[in-house]
Amino acid sequence: MSIRLSNGTEIPIEMHKVRIVQKVRLAPARERLKAMEAAGYNTFMLRSRDIFLDMLTDSGTNAMSDNQLAAMMQSDDAYAGSESFYKLADAVQEIFGYKYVLPTHQGRAAEHLLAKTFVKPGHIVPMNYHFTTTKAHFDLAGGKVLELYTPEALNAQSSCLFKGNMDLGRLRAAIEKAGAENVSFVRMEATTNLIGGQPFSLENLKQVKALIKPLGIFLVLDGSLISENAYFIHQREPGYEKTSIRDIILEMMSVVDLCYLSGRKSCSVRGGLIATNRKDLHEAIRPWLPVYEGFFTYGGMSSKEIEAMAVGMREMTDLEVAGSSADAIKYFVGLLIEKGVPVVTPPGGLACHLDAMRFIDHVPQSEYPAGALAAAAFIASGARGMERGSVSMDRDAQGNDVPADMELLRLAVPRRVFTMSHFQYVADRMEWLYRHRKLIGGLEFYEEPPVLRFFAGLMKPKNNWGAALADAFEKDFGSEC
Ligand code: F0G
Repeated sequence: MSIRLSNGTEIPIEMHKVRIVQKVRLAPARERLKAMEAAGYNTFMLRSRDIFLDMLTDSGTNAMSDNQLAAMMQSDDAYAGSESFYKLADAVQEIFGYKYVLPTHQGRAAEHLLAKTFVKPGHIVPMNYHFTTTKAHFDLAGGKVLELYTPEALNAQSSCLFKGNMDLGRLRAAIEKAGAENVSFVRMEATTNLIGGQPFSLENLKQVKALIKPLGIFLVLDGSLISENAYFIHQREPGYEKTSIRDIILEMMSVVDLCYLSGRKSCSVRGGLIATNRKDLHEAIRPWLPVYEGFFTYGGMSSKEIEAMAVGMREMTDLEVAGSSADAIKYFVGLLIEKGVPVVTPPGGLACHLDAMRFIDHVPQSEYPAGALAAAAFIASGARGMERGSVSMDRDAQGNDVPADMELLRLAVPRRVFTMSHFQYVADRMEWLYRHRKLIGGLEFYEEPPVLRFFAGLMKPKNNWGAALADAFEKDFGSEC
């Protein structure tokens, strides 16, 4: 929730109180440089103890509620028939309006099962945008991911409120070209993660469904950030100002045929699920659940997380919970805009995104500007973000680098974790970094895994720019911070 102060300024306001905290340490810049070097200039490879503000992701890192923690204490660890599962199934029925649910250990496990069941060699899988794990699974199954976004989607400085919309003309053309029988399904991602957490509108979702239904193609929703997308519909889509988040989610679910999600985001736990009312789809996937995940009533999740997920699903429909990270991101983005730091607009869900192509326009895409900016931001602030650019794209079949559509540094804002002073601090250090941007150079790999290389790839800075940056920082701020 945001509140207007008497001087007119809008600030995000916490609709909760903090009763459990985790201590963090701000290591001096020189130590941060050493940690970054040891991590091969890959923020995934840092140790948590070296990080001041962990803005890598909102995945599994949202603050949980007292009610979620209380529910965990009552979980039923029966291997089969666990009561905890039935509580989750009740929540899915209530919040999504769906009868069938398959728990999975996390979102990519759901993607694996969908790929295994529906994606066949030669198929296309149209979507509003890909996510890394989604694409990896669909590619491995022999499918071809087609991203059919509208032209505004990749405009980093846009005022388009629904950059996550699918381009209907491109969708129609893609299906005509491939033949409907060669379409696994159409996937809509609730807030397009890799291009700035941008939502789609309910109108667009309905139009996609109307186009594919007569062709016998089903619609899949990646609902990992379902309540954030619903919040943006509530805030931005004409006609939905007075509709509750709960009703918007129910309406979204009534349009799509199947929803899968990572429970690590909107639901604030560590798990995942696949849910639907379509018996045929459910029965096609179901046999594979015990093969890859676990028995039907736990699917690889701990019973404690299943209990917390049932509570988290209901809580994510509270306006204050659905908007808690989105409103903080809007504030954070606003601070950066004031300071002239290039960010993606409009602000989306899950994170504030710095536009590395504009931030360090002297670093060519072949030298991974978003990766370089992520490393530089850590050295300058102790805040750990995530590269969302060409490092996050794997090489093509010929071994060539695939340049990403955007080069972004994602500073994630997990729900209810950071405070306004944290955002002010990071914004200040990013402004400093922007003033010293010419010190930042490119990166090159010295160890590169063949798939999802961004997780464990190791890189080094060209001309040792990291050390020059730490020197400049020390000169301005001293050796203590
Ligand atoms: N789909 C979307 C849209 C996601 O954002 C993620 C994960 C997944 C699927 C995979 O789910 O991690 O539970 O296996 N996003 C995390 C992130 C990793 O940091 O954005 P998972």
